[in-house]
Amino acid sequence: MYVCICNAIRETDLRTVARCCRGDATALYGALGHAPQCGQCLDDAEDIIAEESASANAPLSAAA
Ligand code: FES
Repeated sequence: MYVCICNAIRETDLRTVARCCRGDATALYGALGHAPQCGQCLDDAEDIIAEESASANAPLSAAA
């Protein structure tokens, strides 16, 4: 699924870059070689970035 139609950025590409780079949607679009244009996607992009950040910071399960 595309998260950004203007730049043809796929959700999977945004999630991948969000796992290795810090920053907001504008910064991560830049890491992918793009810049926001219409801005319609930015709220959804920020939600995806927040999900990836939360999963990266989640504590490992204590169950062993
Ligand atoms: S849909 Fe992403 S900038 Fe337009």
